[in-house]
Amino acid sequence: MSADIFDKCFNFSVVNELKKTGFYPYFHRVESAQGPEIIVDGKKKIVVCSNNYLGLANHSKVIEASVTAVRKYGTSCTGSRFLNGTNDLHEKVEKKFANFIGKEEAILFTTGHHSNLGALSSLVGKNEVLITDKLDHASIIDGCRLSFGEMARFRHNDMSDLERQLIKHQGKGILIVVDGIFSMEGDIVNFPEASKLAKKYGARVFVDEAHSLGVIGKSGKGTGEHFNMEEDVDVLMATASKSLASIGGFIASKAEVVDYIKHNARTMIFTASLPPACVGAIDAALDLIISEPERRTKLMETASKMKSAFQSMGYNTNNSQSPIIPLTVGSDLIAFKMWRMLFDEGVFASPVVTPAVPEGQAIIRTSYMATHSDDHLNFILEKFRKVGKQLGIIA
Ligand SMILES: Cc1ncc(COP(=O)(O)O)c(C=O)c1O
Repeated sequence: MSADIFDKCFNFSVVNELKKTGFYPYFHRVESAQGPEIIVDGKKKIVVCSNNYLGLANHSKVIEASVTAVRKYGTSCTGSRFLNGTNDLHEKVEKKFANFIGKEEAILFTTGHHSNLGALSSLVGKNEVLITDKLDHASIIDGCRLSFGEMARFRHNDMSDLERQLIKHQGKGILIVVDGIFSMEGDIVNFPEASKLAKKYGARVFVDEAHSLGVIGKSGKGTGEHFNMEEDVDVLMATASKSLASIGGFIASKAEVVDYIKHNARTMIFTASLPPACVGAIDAALDLIISEPERRTKLMETASKMKSAFQSMGYNTNNSQSPIIPLTVGSDLIAFKMWRMLFDEGVFASPVVTPAVPEGQAIIRTSYMATHSDDHLNFILEKFRKVGKQLGIIA
């Protein structure tokens, strides 16, 4: 008898089992804009899991720019950038972004995920190699899978393991791909060493700045600026879905590299372009990143305050160096339980469980916004203290 392709769906019971316990943390309905306070399932919660780092996703100037773009260009470009879907607003924003980060050119994809898929799969072909950090984001892994190149991985931020891979593949075209700030761990790539090794072995470096753009670097340009090595980032990728308060993704590099990706990336050619509302929002958010550096200062002060407070309570904050602070709590079940207890106390957090983390090392990933007030932060700390004690995670 032949198998039914739906068998796995009918046997997919894990979610229902979790729902029965009341600990199911996913797909909750948010009924308000993304700020430090949101309404979830009808109740107010203080958010500690948003990537709205600079608090721009509901800023009046960003909303206004988005509405103005819709009024002028309509709701959709109804086609690929390649054909009818490029307008003057896309080009304006690409130029503004390239100028801001100091690259010759930039191209705007429809999502950050698409940027990684398109750029990595088009840049790295047969007989070439992608070397990635084991904790790189899933969209980087997906981009590698779509590429005809070979894929090799090194242990997280372990530069001697990176060198081992570079030696193994020496002589081939190599692209090293790293996150600037790692999305779950909150640590920063050892870029100075990765760049030194890239030069030694003739490789290029691609940095995913999803969580670092607008967050680190003197003016928010990300990892290169943070280390005063902007020139050494060969390809910079940034999503617009976090600090830039929209959706979309940039790839920026030398003009020839951007031009090549633009004409070869399947996710550029075979999908419709970013809608005007989203491009307008990026345009205004970029202006605010540049004109209001105090948002970044406040964000980093908040991150540092929260990290010290969690540590003094006895939480393991891992190697966080950013507004992403992951707290190790134990088993997956404990993480789900803690999520629920925090939720009932009025805090909306994110549990991260296996296989994203090793067995028994589940985390509650916390992340902060420039717009969290002291009252919000103190409320969050009070609830983590209470719930952490009840679960025996802290003394
Ligand atoms: C490091 C990293 N890269 C890429 C992406 C994909 O970006 P987007 O969600 O904007 O498609 C994300 C999103 O979560 C991310 O965290």
